[in-house]
Amino acid sequence: MTNPLAPLTATEIEKAVEIFRREHGDERAVFCSSGLDEPAKADVKAGRAVPRIVKFLGTDSVPDGGFEAYVNLAEDKVERLIRLGNDAQAPYGYYDLGVAVQLTKGNAEWLSAVKARGIACDTEEDIERIQIDPWPAGGYAVDEIPVGHRAVRCIAFVRDDKTDNGYARPIHGLICHVDVTAGQVVRVDDSGVIPMPPNPGRFDAAHQERTRTDLKDLEITQPDGPSFEVDGYRVKWQGYEFSVSMHPVHGLVLHQLSLQQRPLLYRAALSEMIVPYGDNDNMHAWKHVLDASEYNMGMLVNSLKLGCDCLGEIFYFDVHQVTWEGKVKSVENAICMHEEDYGIQWKHYDSESQTSEVRRSRRLVISSIFTIGNYDYGFYWYLYLDGTIQMEIKLTGIVGVSAVTEATHNPAQSPLIAEGLASPVHQHVFCFRLDWELDGGPNAIYESQIEVLPISDTNPDGTQFQSVSTHLVDEASAKRNVYPERSRHWKVVNPASLNGLGKPVSYKLLPAGSPTLLAAEQSVVGRRGAFGKHHLWVTPYADDELSAAGAHTVMHNGGGLPEYTKHNRDISEGDLVMWHTVALTHVPRPEDWPVMPVEYTGFHLIPVGFFDRNPTLDLPSKCHG
Ligand code: NI
Repeated sequence: MTNPLAPLTATEIEKAVEIFRREHGDERAVFCSSGLDEPAKADVKAGRAVPRIVKFLGTDSVPDGGFEAYVNLAEDKVERLIRLGNDAQAPYGYYDLGVAVQLTKGNAEWLSAVKARGIACDTEEDIERIQIDPWPAGGYAVDEIPVGHRAVRCIAFVRDDKTDNGYARPIHGLICHVDVTAGQVVRVDDSGVIPMPPNPGRFDAAHQERTRTDLKDLEITQPDGPSFEVDGYRVKWQGYEFSVSMHPVHGLVLHQLSLQQRPLLYRAALSEMIVPYGDNDNMHAWKHVLDASEYNMGMLVNSLKLGCDCLGEIFYFDVHQVTWEGKVKSVENAICMHEEDYGIQWKHYDSESQTSEVRRSRRLVISSIFTIGNYDYGFYWYLYLDGTIQMEIKLTGIVGVSAVTEATHNPAQSPLIAEGLASPVHQHVFCFRLDWELDGGPNAIYESQIEVLPISDTNPDGTQFQSVSTHLVDEASAKRNVYPERSRHWKVVNPASLNGLGKPVSYKLLPAGSPTLLAAEQSVVGRRGAFGKHHLWVTPYADDELSAAGAHTVMHNGGGLPEYTKHNRDISEGDLVMWHTVALTHVPRPEDWPVMPVEYTGFHLIPVGFFDRNPTLDLPSKCHG
């Protein structure tokens, strides 16, 4: 069976580059990303044959936001070439970032500011030891950069050598503003010298004083092999069927997820994320990177290693991507899939017969890890035997840092994490797009929560409470936030599909007790990350609405969900998309240094009346008595 949603092959990318180069003779054309232009949902669902179309984003000699090219492989032509305007730019690619690094390292004013800090930068080796991190300038571009130009802000660090922690020694107070379009440094900001933190932040094994020797081997083996079946990028496991892909912005995507041949989700993936900093220090106050869309998160996927990133009987999917110069980069083991034991699924001990009935739970794990500058994000989809689906985000890597002195340190906004080193409080705000097709549709969305009944004749003790549901009928009333005290959650319901009890089937979205975006609504961050103001948004399905902050966010002032929902469309029943924001406010601690132990967040999707009873009664019993 051909899978119309299978990711691009290396051959497809090669061929598409060739067609693009032939038709678009601009020698300065470079690529930011490649991906399958996912065919229209209606065509896929109708089983119609769909052409394979490669979508490239990139920039060329035209000083605008770049291009979006759709290359039709079967017809051997560029089907559409869209110029991105002044405020809708292609994401930053390796080319942009490389240019920014070179320009910064070659700038005399910047070099003398580095020197003034006692950092050697006379030889090539000296310069090599300086690490430059280019950050998006969107929302905060300086006056010297004309509207429509691509801009970044470069901050810098010093390494002892290539294996050193690149973030232990920040060159504090120094920002280099680069106009990438014009190819020049337009300004160097220097807010004064702060001494380097004294200690190295090495976390590689070779630099640890000791290694634990009392951890015994823990092996996970499946002598009969795993329980899943894989056909290309399609997977079957315990009644679930789905396919996986890697999107240049959304990263790991699950497509056409069904359970026992009953459709659940047409597409489920991250749509966007933003990481705003709360610190007023001028090295950080402007930082609010939209990691997914500004940096092309999917293009930054890791190649995973057995026994390190994943343990057990692993199946890996490779993915293929275009490089900035139009070659193919194959990322081996980009998506990891395996089964995990997950404790007990259910149990009861019967005191009369003195016997236990207990069944083991297990989950199918589909995961990928992305490194975006200092941070590493793991996205883990878990499918459980009882129909529960979970997204777990694992946050690790290296926190953002400031070199501080007693005089400059503001502990409330930037806790001390090591000697002379502080880390700003910040947020990680993720928005997932869940395109439901529960039991084939139509779908409706309800909010459920606990209502506490007032003391009355029928509730004389004031002990009564009940679960109430409200139908969300339009986009405005479906902008909702969590309310953990009342167990608020949201349900997707299929009113046309009744369970054995005669009630409509449903799945609930169980949110974590997340914060929302803390920046003021009218602020730059509040506008560009407006999706983060609500934990739930609901929209009627539209082929071109995939991006919580807008399709193109580089240098953009905000879009996506506020735009999509501004006409307050009807969502009472139909083909509906849930957008779920889940966030962490990170107050860094000494234990986060020099590398951060994994922090977790996420959400669950849980069947509610989708089955008529516990669907795991048929699990084999492995123990008796
Ligand atoms: Ni963090």
